[in-house]
Amino acid sequence: MANFKQHGMLPATTHDEASRQEFVSALRGHLSGRLMPGNYRVFHERVEPAFKARTGRNPESEHEVRELMTKNPFYQFWSAMQRRSQEMLWESVIDPTERQLPELIDKARKLGARPLPGKRKGTLRLDPKLEVPRYHTAADIHLQPGGYHTDFTADDIAAGAIYDKGINLYMGGGLGEENNLTGDTLVAYIRKAHPDFAPRSILDMGCAIGNSSVVWAREFPKARVHGLDVGAPILRYAHARAQALGVAVDFSQQNAEHTDFPDGSFDLVVSHIVLHETSKSALVRVLAESRRLLRPGGLMLHLEIPRGRTHMQKFMFNWEAYNNNETFSRYMTDLDLRGEALKAGFAPDQVRVDQFTPELDDTQKNYGDEFFWNILVGRR
Ligand SMILES: C[S@@+](CC[C@H](N)C(=O)[O-])C[C@H]1O[C@@H](n2cnc3c(N)ncnc32)[C@H](O)[C@@H]1O
Repeated sequence: MANFKQHGMLPATTHDEASRQEFVSALRGHLSGRLMPGNYRVFHERVEPAFKARTGRNPESEHEVRELMTKNPFYQFWSAMQRRSQEMLWESVIDPTERQLPELIDKARKLGARPLPGKRKGTLRLDPKLEVPRYHTAADIHLQPGGYHTDFTADDIAAGAIYDKGINLYMGGGLGEENNLTGDTLVAYIRKAHPDFAPRSILDMGCAIGNSSVVWAREFPKARVHGLDVGAPILRYAHARAQALGVAVDFSQQNAEHTDFPDGSFDLVVSHIVLHETSKSALVRVLAESRRLLRPGGLMLHLEIPRGRTHMQKFMFNWEAYNNNETFSRYMTDLDLRGEALKAGFAPDQVRVDQFTPELDDTQKNYGDEFFWNILVGRR
């Protein structure tokens, strides 16, 4: 992919493998850019008027929209293609990863041990006894075989390598050359909303391959950056990837609901598109844990995708929940995020939800409305 950086841990591709990945990316771009908006047209120009002519009213819930749209041939075609393109996406990145897996594991071991010129190196702390939460073991999120957490061999890094290239294809390259879009977005927010904030300790919850952790470490070079996740293979890869990029991050395998860091350990606790991959009960625990970990004056920023304003938008956003194994994310629709933060112990004047659209992000405008990110902001 022209816009993706071939850093030291990314599996190499043969001509045919690269071409297959290009095809999947172009197909997904076509589906989301050209075909997906057609669902809104079909709904507003045909499905909804026909329903109104029959019943004298408009559909009154996302579920009513679902009942109507899942019978519509255009939606059925788009949905089937979207699902198949997701399966093709993983197939196209799994093959090159498996072909090179022993060498990649070896590379990860060496990169992990390598000193970083002029600075301390990053660290990796795994916990083989950690119980991976059911919201990850019950279904392979996004259909990635084994999810973020499954080790298929000793010292496995496959989940990370597959995810790194996979999410780039998923977004048709729109996540940036180092999958840096989510980290850049939250950095842009903090620069705008809290320009004088200079954290010395940062925790990135649900860091996956550390793509955002690396952004934070570069942005605040005096800060110590920790990244935590429940998945061992994704963290081994994150550690080696950060080392390959020459950035020091301390990764640990922990559940964001209850970590082993002492109270008040961090100036800044962040997460990027993680909350919707937990469950409703876990969410409150993650927010309470974020609060516990903040130093007085510290800041919590959880970046989330919106869940839609209209019934039709909610239906479309929940395509991922019903068809792409974001099974638990359904609870986020209509959730009062601020209310959940209050339950987690934040005082009313300490917490708010900001809507933010950075200039760098115009990849999502096809969702039938202006795109914005939700940022749950908490202060201690
Ligand atoms: C969509 S990925 C995150 C992407 C990444 N943060 C970014 O900026 O692009 C969600 C990650 O959150 C992790 N995660 C979900 N629930 C978690 C929990 N309770 N504790 C720690 N990590 C969690 C998953 O394992 C996964 O790696």
